[in-house]
Amino acid sequence: MKDVDCAGGPRADGPRVRLPVVTGKPLPVDVEGASAGPLTDGLRRRISYLRISLTDRCNYRCTYCMPEAGIELAARADVLSFEEIEATVAALKLVGVARVRLTGGEPTVRKDLVELTERLARLGLEDLALSTNGERLLELAAPLKAAGLTRLNVSVDTLVPERFRQVTRRGDLDKVLAGLSAARAVGFAHTKVNCVAMRGFNDDEIGALCRYCWDRDFIPRFIELMPMSDGELFYPGKFLPVAELRATLTRELGPLLDVESGEPLPGVGPARYAAVMYQGKLRQVGMISAVSEPFCDTCNRVRLSSTGQLHACLAYDDAIDLRSVLRSGLTGDDLTDRLVQVTRSGLSDKRASHVFSQAGCGGPRKHMVSIGG
Ligand code: GTP
Ligand code: 5AD
Ligand code: SF4
Repeated sequence: MKDVDCAGGPRADGPRVRLPVVTGKPLPVDVEGASAGPLTDGLRRRISYLRISLTDRCNYRCTYCMPEAGIELAARADVLSFEEIEATVAALKLVGVARVRLTGGEPTVRKDLVELTERLARLGLEDLALSTNGERLLELAAPLKAAGLTRLNVSVDTLVPERFRQVTRRGDLDKVLAGLSAARAVGFAHTKVNCVAMRGFNDDEIGALCRYCWDRDFIPRFIELMPMSDGELFYPGKFLPVAELRATLTRELGPLLDVESGEPLPGVGPARYAAVMYQGKLRQVGMISAVSEPFCDTCNRVRLSSTGQLHACLAYDDAIDLRSVLRSGLTGDDLTDRLVQVTRSGLSDKRASHVFSQAGCGGPRKHMVSIGG
């Protein structure tokens, strides 16, 4: 259990497993459709990036991401079909959403992921990326590359096999590392390795993880633990702020240089990068500081859950129901226009920022495994 009293915080009413979703919000009459220019939120942030969760299922059980007992899974009939996902992406592309990331749960457990990738790649997106735990990468790297996937982010929290099994509750580190090598061999470049930094767990591996990545042309990234799941999976004692990470990186690897000195990286995510001189070459390391140094003022994204709920923000539970639009009987331009209208309406009150605290309060009830990060 978490070792902090969050009473008085926004979620003082105990854990829940069922994910609440606010749907059916009335659409203001003056919301414009697909012909009315780029998507922005009510704070004039340009929304150009869509994260699509393909499933709430996962073949791992990472301790910070889902409860050991699992979650109440969505009914299969509620999960969006490939046609519905494609229609949504095509509609949002018309209003400037040119970058898409496929997430989960674990996206590679969704049947026929390669076929979906092909279909989305045909839409001509600027970026079509995947965030994965890497468990199935060895077999999928080549077909995904051939299907048109542009980039991969792979989670590796530790290079110690027993620790890996402990944090994932079932993962096989060698398999994931073999998958990473396979990805490089088939031509994926700039693969990012995501590591959730946890005090007392992997804080003695920061330098080793960087060296492992740089030796293989991957980009290491350290992520602050975020309090999802009503704070239930968050242990304040494990939280490691990026300020401390920077100090560790400097101590173990040398001075952190301005990123402008390094090679520009693809992606428009929230990571901030630093460059480090390593074996005569400038290498980069990313830090995702959602909690201690928020980046919400530059937020450019929106999330679609596997059941078609559009979440304007990772950190809140409310969402708008695109599935009912997709299943309303509308087709062609009418469907496209309606999808864009409902999205604009949902984004009009996207929050200015999250209220995550380092004590584990202020997050949503939803689980990371169901929204995909
Ligand atoms: P790139 O385009 O390669 O930079 O990817 P990304 O960092 O956007 O995606 P990835 O799936 O690798 O996410 C890495 C971490 O960043 C995960 O822990 C996500 O939950 C977190 N993250 C991504 N976007 C947001 C965001 O808008 N807000 C917050 N708080 N965290 C985010
Ligand atoms: N806090 C921070 N990152 C998390 N991830 C999953 N749960 C959390 C959490 N509570 C990360 C995964 C993966 C990415 C998509 O999200 O490790 O790298
Ligand atoms: Fe781990 Fe990702 Fe699965 Fe969560 S969704 S349990 S982080 S592999």
